[in-house]
Amino acid sequence: MIAELDLQVTKTGKSKLNEIDFNNLPFGKFLTDHMLEVDYADGEWKQAHIKPVENLSISPANSAIHYGQSIFEGIKAYKDADGKPFIFRPYDNFRRFNLSAERMQMPAIPEELFIEGMRRLVDLEKDWIPMKSDYSLYIRPFMFSTDSTLGVKAAETYKFIILLSPTGPYYSVPVKVYVEDTYTRAARGGVGFVKNAGNYGASMMATAVAKKQGYDQVLWMDAYEHKYAQEIGTMNVFFVIGNKVVTPDLQSGTILEGVTRDSAIEVLREEGYEVVEQPVHIDDVVRAYEAGELKEVFGTGTAATISMIRELKYEDFVMKFDTDTWKAAPAVKRILTDIREGRREDTHGWMFKV
Ligand code: COI
Repeated sequence: MIAELDLQVTKTGKSKLNEIDFNNLPFGKFLTDHMLEVDYADGEWKQAHIKPVENLSISPANSAIHYGQSIFEGIKAYKDADGKPFIFRPYDNFRRFNLSAERMQMPAIPEELFIEGMRRLVDLEKDWIPMKSDYSLYIRPFMFSTDSTLGVKAAETYKFIILLSPTGPYYSVPVKVYVEDTYTRAARGGVGFVKNAGNYGASMMATAVAKKQGYDQVLWMDAYEHKYAQEIGTMNVFFVIGNKVVTPDLQSGTILEGVTRDSAIEVLREEGYEVVEQPVHIDDVVRAYEAGELKEVFGTGTAATISMIRELKYEDFVMKFDTDTWKAAPAVKRILTDIREGRREDTHGWMFKV
């Protein structure tokens, strides 16, 4: 039972809903009419508001801008065939959000604020949930420090906001991925397992280099040997090798524990695949490709859902795939989409009713 949430609601006088072309929704481009906003100060979360989306006013000495105490999540809301709204696995993102908060020395968010606040906001904005298959309402909870000081220390004040954005698929076609063996994303003891903004800022350079070579994203390798696969820029990674599905294990603390990753593992196992979480050496991937055993490579993520990789480049070696012949990735994608859009029974209790 979630504790009561004291929420003030101020509605907009002018909705932007009719200005949006729901057939053309690039990821993250449009925001709905309202957001949830709440401040933390004096050791407690203050009054929460749902209010029209507006710009923020912050000090130029804002500590999040200077020192990076800033974390976020990505969650999606869908409608079933009867038009009833649901949120996919919000409790898993809630747990990860507070894990990120702890690692970044930020205050924990109470469950009622994260879950009930999100539910009330999505309920208010349910007309913004696209009904088109593979489209959804992307939910972006985030928190950043709001102290105004140039001193380096964990801040005393924070802001938590939830934004909503109607969105289409992040990648509309299978992607090309470059195996990054110079720059690194995360090392043991670092922050690779949490969703802090800096992880993404630090990835821009490698992504830019990959893009110059015609690749969409990079596959990060471990920080020591540059040999073990970690994750792809916006998603976890899976390899179908022979009759096994292999994905990097989470032991090293350098990989984000993806909610879609976990869902994909469960669905694959139910479909009869053997799924193994283990260190994945890039030489084994190349050897499997050369032996004709590397059948599929795909990414999983909230924004990216299930994204097929049509090309993987490691040093000078290019691995190309005919994604039309694949079985595992399309099956996971179909099953997860059917659960989310209410065409398949939700036997896992993943769909949270708004
Ligand atoms: C997500 O999948 O929600 C992400 O956070 C990845 C990216 C859009 C930052």
